[in-house]
Parts: sequence; C-alpha cells; structure tokens
Amino acid sequence: MRAYDIIKKKRDGLKLSQPEIASIISGFVDASLPDYQMAAFLMAVYFKGMDEEETYWMTDCMRTSGDLINLDGIEGFTVDKHSTGGVGDKTSLVLGPVLAALGLKVAKMSGRGLGHTGGTIDKLEAIKGFSCELTTRQFIDAVNKIGVVIVGQTGNLVPADKKIYALRDVTATVDSIPLIAASIMSKKLAVANKGLVLDVKVGSGAFMKNLDDARELARLMVKIGKQAGRKVTAVLSNMDEPLGEMIGNAVEVIEAIDTLRNHGPQGFTSLIKTLAAEALALGAGLDRGEAEKKVAEVLADGRAYAKFLEMVKFQGGDIAMIEDYSKLPAARKTDTLKADRDGYISQINCEEIGLAAMMLGAGRETKESVIDMGVGLKLIKHVGDKINKGDVLAELYLNPDLDNSRAVNRLRKAIELSDSKIVAQPLILDIIS
Ligand code: URA
Repeated sequence: MRAYDIIKKKRDGLKLSQPEIASIISGFVDASLPDYQMAAFLMAVYFKGMDEEETYWMTDCMRTSGDLINLDGIEGFTVDKHSTGGVGDKTSLVLGPVLAALGLKVAKMSGRGLGHTGGTIDKLEAIKGFSCELTTRQFIDAVNKIGVVIVGQTGNLVPADKKIYALRDVTATVDSIPLIAASIMSKKLAVANKGLVLDVKVGSGAFMKNLDDARELARLMVKIGKQAGRKVTAVLSNMDEPLGEMIGNAVEVIEAIDTLRNHGPQGFTSLIKTLAAEALALGAGLDRGEAEKKVAEVLADGRAYAKFLEMVKFQGGDIAMIEDYSKLPAARKTDTLKADRDGYISQINCEEIGLAAMMLGAGRETKESVIDMGVGLKLIKHVGDKINKGDVLAELYLNPDLDNSRAVNRLRKAIELSDSKIVAQPLILDIIS
C-alpha cells in the first residue's frame, strides 16, 4: 500500500479503507511515513473530510498507538469528563468531588497548561504539598476508597496524537471536525472508563465558533464513543466569555472551593450541575430531573466539599489552605481595570484574556516557564452587562516586579463594548446523548 495512493484517494474525495488508514497512522508513528506525506494527508482530510466509519477507524488506530489504561481494579461506574478547552476552566476541580459524592468513580488524568493559564495539575499545585504522582496501586486504591483522584497523564498515552497534533498545529489543519474528534476520542478511549461526558465549547474562545459545527462534532464523538462500547453524552456550552470569574491558578482553586461550598458563580455552578447530572444519568440510569436533584443535594449539604478535602489530604495537600483559602499563594499587588467609556459588554475574547493572564505570569510561554501561582484576574462584568465609564471591569492580581502594561492593554482590548444592548447567550446550549 503506497502512501502516495492513499493521499491521492483522499485528495479525490474517496472513502479510505480501515487498512489504508491504519497504514498511514502506524507509518507516521514509526517514522516510516515522512512529515510531508502526513501533512498532505491531513490537508486532504481537512478539505475532503472523513465519514463516521473512517473517523472511527482513525480514532481506533490512534488509541492503540501507545499505553492503554485498564481500570478493572476499580469497583463501580468509572466516569470521565472532557472539555474541548476554555479559559477559566476549573471544572475538573469541582466535578470530580461532586461525582465522587454521588457514588461514581473518577480516576482523573489531567495535563499541564501551555500557552494560556495553567492546566488542572498546575492549579492543584497551588495547594502546598499536593502531588499528582501516584503509583498505579495508590491510584486504584484511592479511587476505590475516596471516589476521586487527579493524577498527571502517563508518558506514552496515544503517541500518535502527540505527533499528529504537532503537525496539525503548524499546517493549519487543527480545525477539522473529523481530526478533532479522532484526536479527542483516541485519548479518552485509551482509558477504560465506562462513561464519558463531553463538554463541547462553542463561541469565540473555542475551536467550534458556531452551534452547527459544535453539534456536528458532538454527535460524531458520541457515536465514536458508543461504537467503542462506552456510555457517552455531550453538553454544548457557551465560550463567548471565560468560565466563571477567576482566571489564574490559586484564584481558580478559590473559585472551585466556593463552588463546592455551594456559593460559586451562578453560570459555573449551573455547568457543574448539568455535567454532573449527565454523568449520574449515565451511571445510575436516572432521568435528568432526578439526577439534577441529587447533584444539588451534595453541593448543598457539604458532601461534595468533604470529598474535595479528602482528595486533597490523600494527595498530600495542605487542607488548612482549603479551609482558610487566604493561606493560598496570593499576588503582592492588586489593581483594577476600569471602563474608559459607556456601553454594553458584547464579547470577552477568551483567547486574548488567556494570553493576557499568561503575560501576567499565570501561564507558561515555554515549557520551561515557571508559573506564578498568585497572579491572575477576576472578571467583574460579563457579556450583556451595561457599563458606565469608570466602572471596574476586572480586578488584577499582579507581580509588581514585572512590567504588566502590555498584558493590561491586551486585557482591555479583549473586553469589547457595544453601544447597543446585547442579550447574552445561555451557558448551556444543547445536550446530545
Ligand atoms: N483538543 C484535542 O485534544 N484535540 C484537538 O484536535 C482539538 C482539541
């Protein structure tokens, strides 16, 4: 099977067979297929697409390209959540303990961030002593005992995606629905969870800029997951502004704690409730109404917060920092960003906010950058709010040793004002199961 012929077949819009897709993926992973041929293949897929069957074959070849994580030692319904990415996304910190309090099992593997603010692991490391490095035995035992553990990803999970994504990133082939679906689902299906809730973000800050594309991606991923024998639901949520109010590391942990204590921001809390209810519906066969009631109960009666404390303690974190979060790392300087005119907030560009937060020190510009856990920002105003000149748009938590002016300018430009009234989109846009 010549790579040339497979690329040409896809270029001409024809359907590939399972062996043809397997030969491209395995050839690229073992380096017998050069970058230039893989780049041509990806561009052909970008323009001609792949049908559901081809996307499933590609997902499965990628999934089996490295380690597979077996969760057989865990009793009960193992469930994971995946977000297609967003700024201010501290969902995993809250959702895991909520699901554990509901009796589900969450064996969470998370990553570090590069570019915008830190990833889940970076945020958790704002808690003194917190360790995401557990042995497999400790990991399985802890999930059985507590119900939730968050660890770092293993080195060799889906190497095909690492290589392919790096090439997509530099060949303008990231935003292809079948390629995104294969990339996400290969990683999710490499870990043997029984259930999966996908949080597909839609809007200016997301890969999917409009609802139609997001629905197509969500339907495709749900189908792939079901074909692989998993229970899968996708929630489509709005990303026209960052999630919640806090963006940074320690500040996002604070927002997560507030939410677990049942006084988090309304939008973020409603997303948590929706995702948790979907997971519970998958795991316990409840209808949505019953599931939502149970989720609200564990947030209101402190069971979800207690699970978070248990998890932090087990993973070596200092729970005094959770019980009194003024002990978490804090910035040495605070300031405010004020509106320079009247208007209505029409959009808060997530990518720009994320980059501004990174410039403040909350994210990594390169792999070697060291995150400043205390810096970040709090968005005081949201899309649709009426603004008067001089109103505080955001609180800033700064490192006074840095020149923060470029970051603050970027932040100002990211918050767009309009003269006419704007109606904000609802946070939850659709559910596909
Ligand atoms: N997230 C992924 O993991 N892969 C993509 O292709 C896009 C988003």
